[in-house]
Amino acid sequence: MKTAIVAASSQGLGKAIATKLVSQEVNVMLASRDEQKLHAVAEQLNALGKGKAAYVVTDVTNNAMIEQLVEKTVETFGDIHLLVNNAGGPPTGTFATLTDADWQQAFELNVLSYVRLIRATLPHLKKTKGKIVNIASSSIKEPIPGLLLSNTFRLGIVGLTKTLAQEFAPYGILINTVAPGRIATERVAYLDEQNAKKLGIGKEEMEARMKATIPLGRYGTPEEFANVVAFLLSDENTYMTGQSLLVDGGMVKAI
Ligand SMILES: NC(=O)c1ccc[n+]([C@@H]2O[C@H](COP(=O)([O-])OP(=O)(O)OC[C@H]3O[C@@H](n4cnc5c(N)ncnc54)[C@H](OP(=O)(O)O)[C@@H]3O)[C@@H](O)[C@H]2O)c1
Repeated sequence: MKTAIVAASSQGLGKAIATKLVSQEVNVMLASRDEQKLHAVAEQLNALGKGKAAYVVTDVTNNAMIEQLVEKTVETFGDIHLLVNNAGGPPTGTFATLTDADWQQAFELNVLSYVRLIRATLPHLKKTKGKIVNIASSSIKEPIPGLLLSNTFRLGIVGLTKTLAQEFAPYGILINTVAPGRIATERVAYLDEQNAKKLGIGKEEMEARMKATIPLGRYGTPEEFANVVAFLLSDENTYMTGQSLLVDGGMVKAI
């Protein structure tokens, strides 16, 4: 049985990816900051009777916690084959409102945590010819108004992915980025609320306006997003590496 670490997996996209992997008989180590939520997710996943789920409380901006997460994963499941890098989204804000501390925190959360998790798991991924998926955002193709930190730092993940695909290819490690457009999670509900407030309209009206920009006419489900990630992590993916893919219902118009 393979083992995956899925970062930021107490809810939303991370939880959906963990669920998909466990249903495919992969053992999953869940990791995020909220122990109660992690406990509940682990119980749900173990009830599926497929792969096993365990968790380590981890703030991905803390390197010591990342090292402990990797150590505990090997202790619990024996090895590491798959890594999903994920974290909370950065706060909204414009150039005028964001402070140095905001910039630094977003770098630590959305770039450095990925670098550190890759570094800590690399000796294991080399042994297992493992696979990595980095979660980013549609801002890698088209800047999102009011999300300057995402628009800046997510592109770093695209560069990291492309560069590491070359560096890691000799070890048989494949690495890709998957970028959500509007997938219905608490994060998107939060962003809709913020935007609705800014425009002085209701949340439902905001949602309707957003959906009107998506050719498929609706938000994606976390399960639809997880299916794409699971393919990239599966044995069926033998030749795709260094890519950054959108899962956005056609929302982003850039080629
Ligand atoms: N949903 C979308 O359509 C969409 C679109 C573009 C980009 N994204 C990005 O994709 C990522 C996941 O999105 P989501 O929709 O699943 O968000 P979400 O519902 O807000 O979930 C975020 C997850 O990140 C964890 N987390 C936050 N800070 C953390 C930290 N310092 N250390 C460890 N875990 C942390 C949270 O768990 P704890 O509270 O337990 O730590 C939670 O499990 C975010 O970065 C988001 O900005 C999502």
